[in-house]
Amino acid sequence: MKHATKAILSGATILVALAASACGDGPRDVERIEAEGRIDARFAVGAAAFLKYCALCHAADATGYAADHAPSLVSTTFLESASDEYLARGIREGRPGTAMAPYAKARGGPLDDDEVLAIIAFLRDRGPARIRLPAKAVLGNVASGEALFAASCQRCHGTRTERGNAVHLANTALLSAASDAYLRYAIVHGRPSTPMPAFHGALGEDQIDDVVAMLRSWAVPPEPARQAPPELPPLGEVVINPGGKNAEFTLREGRFVPIDDVKRAIEAKKRVVIIDARATSDWLVMHIPGSISVPYYGFARLDALPKDSTWITAYCACPHHASGVVVDELRKRGFTHTAVLDEGILEWKKRGYPTVSEPVLPDAGAGAIPAPALRLPGLPPR
Ligand code: HEC
Ligand code: HEC
Repeated sequence: MKHATKAILSGATILVALAASACGDGPRDVERIEAEGRIDARFAVGAAAFLKYCALCHAADATGYAADHAPSLVSTTFLESASDEYLARGIREGRPGTAMAPYAKARGGPLDDDEVLAIIAFLRDRGPARIRLPAKAVLGNVASGEALFAASCQRCHGTRTERGNAVHLANTALLSAASDAYLRYAIVHGRPSTPMPAFHGALGEDQIDDVVAMLRSWAVPPEPARQAPPELPPLGEVVINPGGKNAEFTLREGRFVPIDDVKRAIEAKKRVVIIDARATSDWLVMHIPGSISVPYYGFARLDALPKDSTWITAYCACPHHASGVVVDELRKRGFTHTAVLDEGILEWKKRGYPTVSEPVLPDAGAGAIPAPALRLPGLPPR
């Protein structure tokens, strides 16, 4: 955290210095300094937004791995090869099915386009210059690429359907944003200061082409973008099974409750509150029925929760970091029965437990309206 705070301070110091030096300068220099000043202001906005929304997983200095194997956003080869559009798209649309939420306001996230651009300015601040990548598609042998991938990549990146510890390369949003040359550059040069090795020399040029062709063969057309409703549905009843008896949980390490215990309590019609601590955009796409959205960056809705012996549980995808932030805040505010859902929402979904989507609007002119929401029998409509 120290690092980014220092960055903001140095941004502010530079602003003050610029304002002071502007006094004695002629009109042209004032203009120039003002222009530079705006750039620094943008950097400061970006640093603050990064600290609030991203540091949780990507670490305050953006070197990654604070939570859920979130990658570095400042390795030299990443910043060299990623265009601003690639970065903006990643931040706005996220990586569906992973802990990386869509952060655009249009998707129900917290960031407007100016803030997205400010975050990019913050990331690029001390980074290398962009390099020009060839636009041409990479041609290669998919079958050979599959064998190479299984031998050299799978232990970190998982398979097409199962993620490993490293970035999930089969992700539709990644493959639709990343060019062949971008993927190839990452494989050839690796990602310095991360576990991603450079394969230059370890694999032949043709072999690298084969792996890229294989990754490309995984790409499927992305789902049509969906527009978030301008406002969340009104909160209504926050307790699941409000007429039931209180659920009773035994916590691991005084903090964690297994998802199976929570599922059983719901089915047994016990009273419980479930908070979705991820970005609200993720809640809109998929959440546990009856859960309410209280993202790790905005706590206003905690005031609406019952301050008695009703259990209040929180989950995220990470699977502990965002939910941990919300549970810490609840405990600070004096709520006594609070817990983190241990395995998180992605494991809940993997086990086939019920989830719902909020009705979201298709983007003008694009794709189909999402499938009707499934509801767990006995849960209040929300
Ligand atoms: C809850 C954890 C979490 C938070 C918070 C989060 N990210 Fe991520 N982010 C991830 C993970 C995990 C991935 C990699 C996705 C995967 O596993 O394939 C990722 C991927 C990315 C990527 C794509 C990187 C690449 O190599 O292509 C960008 C860009 C990014 N995040 C930016 C941000 C920004 C900016 C914020 C704040 C607005 C943010 N993230 C907040 C977890 C997070
Ligand atoms: C030892 C583990 C490991 C191995 C082996 C490995 N990778 Fe990676 N790879 C990673 C990690 C970790 C990252 C993310 C690094 C970061 O923080 O930016 C990554 C990043 C990447 C990226 C960039 C993704 C993005 O979103 O920008 C590509 C492409 C990639 N790896 C392909 C491969 C291929 C292909 C192989 C095999 C030839 C391979 N990797 C082998 C760990 C590994």
